[in-house]
Amino acid sequence: MRFSSPALIAVLASAAATAAFTTTSSISAATRTSRNGWLSAIETPTNQDEKTTAIDDEELPFFLSAKTNPIKIEKNVTPKIENTSEQTTIKIENKAEPAIKIDNKVEKSVDNEGSEQMRVAPDAGYYPEWENRPGLPIEKATFVDTSKPDLSAMWECPITKWDSDGIDVEKAQQEAKEMAHNTFEIRASEEDNAMGTQFFIDNKDEIRKELLKHGSIWFRGFDLMKSFSGHRQMYESLGLDPCLDPLHSSGLRKFASERDAIYEEVNKPSLRGHYIGLHCESTSKRTAAYAAFVCLQKATEGGGRFLVADGAAILAELDTKLAKKLYERKIRISVSNLDIPPSFPGAIKNGIKDLVGAAVAPKFDMDLEMIYEADGKPGRLQAVENAECPINRHPVTGKPVWFNNAHNHSRKLRDRRPCGVPEVGMTEVFYADTLEPITLEDANEIKRASEKHITALAMEPGDVLLVDNYRALHGRDVFQGDRFHAVSWFTWDQEQTEWRGTERRTVEKSAMNKAINSMMDWLPKDFESNQS
Ligand SMILES: [Fe+2]
Repeated sequence: MRFSSPALIAVLASAAATAAFTTTSSISAATRTSRNGWLSAIETPTNQDEKTTAIDDEELPFFLSAKTNPIKIEKNVTPKIENTSEQTTIKIENKAEPAIKIDNKVEKSVDNEGSEQMRVAPDAGYYPEWENRPGLPIEKATFVDTSKPDLSAMWECPITKWDSDGIDVEKAQQEAKEMAHNTFEIRASEEDNAMGTQFFIDNKDEIRKELLKHGSIWFRGFDLMKSFSGHRQMYESLGLDPCLDPLHSSGLRKFASERDAIYEEVNKPSLRGHYIGLHCESTSKRTAAYAAFVCLQKATEGGGRFLVADGAAILAELDTKLAKKLYERKIRISVSNLDIPPSFPGAIKNGIKDLVGAAVAPKFDMDLEMIYEADGKPGRLQAVENAECPINRHPVTGKPVWFNNAHNHSRKLRDRRPCGVPEVGMTEVFYADTLEPITLEDANEIKRASEKHITALAMEPGDVLLVDNYRALHGRDVFQGDRFHAVSWFTWDQEQTEWRGTERRTVEKSAMNKAINSMMDWLPKDFESNQS
């Protein structure tokens, strides 16, 4: 068993551990935030020599504060926290078999003492803990094993499950506050890596359980997922059934390996300076149930941290007045702009509108309405999605969470951060009832509440972020150099077959098409997309 550095951090992992997801391997629990706010999870300590470790404020997990209470940590005892007016003591039992656990009771027991969550936005400071794991040469990482079944005829991305009627926003915020707000982290030990695929087979149920609870899982240090084939083995071991990208019909995102159901992320050099804000992989019409983002090569010259934020945490954080306002008024999102000379006669403009509508809407499979000058720009024709409620019940848990793409799509936010999207692809968020763009004040509150809960992951080759797409939002920071990340989308499970629909992609390929597609897998990766 390996300790994180510094070793004292490790102690906190099991502080939260009461129940026990004890595995045959070293899955461990998330516990600490570094100064930039990203959580790190640590392995359960087993070192018998560790006794008591002092800890300063800067090393505390986000849910603990030692501003007034010094913390003392003891090991080799049953895990529990004792809070007195003088100090907080965390006692941890040493186990032969490491446990993974985050126990919300720990958060609550401390939060109930009135401690503030200590989080700051990314870029306030960054201390990498675990860097420069070697990846595979890119030709090995992207090798397509043609002996495996071809998954090209995968499911269509399922229809979005909207369920937002009758939500009591204040009550929903209170409930959301009680939910786990952190990415669950699992670090691989040497033994885990030696198990390969078997690790995911053995721990499937527990991993799926933690995913439902936390909304995202960061797998770190796994050798298996350093390649397309390993990534596929991982998701197949977890019982995840791939589906098409929600915008597949637009062709915006290309496959990295079609037969493995793996798409490219936004690696294109021209978009390396583009900040991708928080979003769910969804449109008002289609939404992937889960996603697995894999790092095959991190940015060669720095940056490119993957961003993830909990939709429950954002809902709990958001100003209640604004949450109610947006819940009641709903939002609409425009996804493209076409600027027509304002001087064109009305009849011609209407003709253009009809033509564009007929051409664009089917291509994007999005139920778009063509509307002139919604954002106030003369002559501008915008493709606008249907109204949607930004607070939606999670399909499985039934708990309302923040579920929308306003943080990424708001024009006012995009204009104020690095953005490489051309005008035609610029998005905007409107109040659905009046079709007015949301105000800067409202956009800024969405930004504040969202970014407070961003966990920025410095992913290394083999790392995977597994996301519950109805619960957690994701994005990507700017980067320098070359980067190669990929993603697979997943539909609903066997238990939710009615949610996945009956649509499978129709793939009719001639021998020539197959040959071309096969060649595409080997070509340098370059693609057009405005989302990760
Ligand atoms: Fe995305």
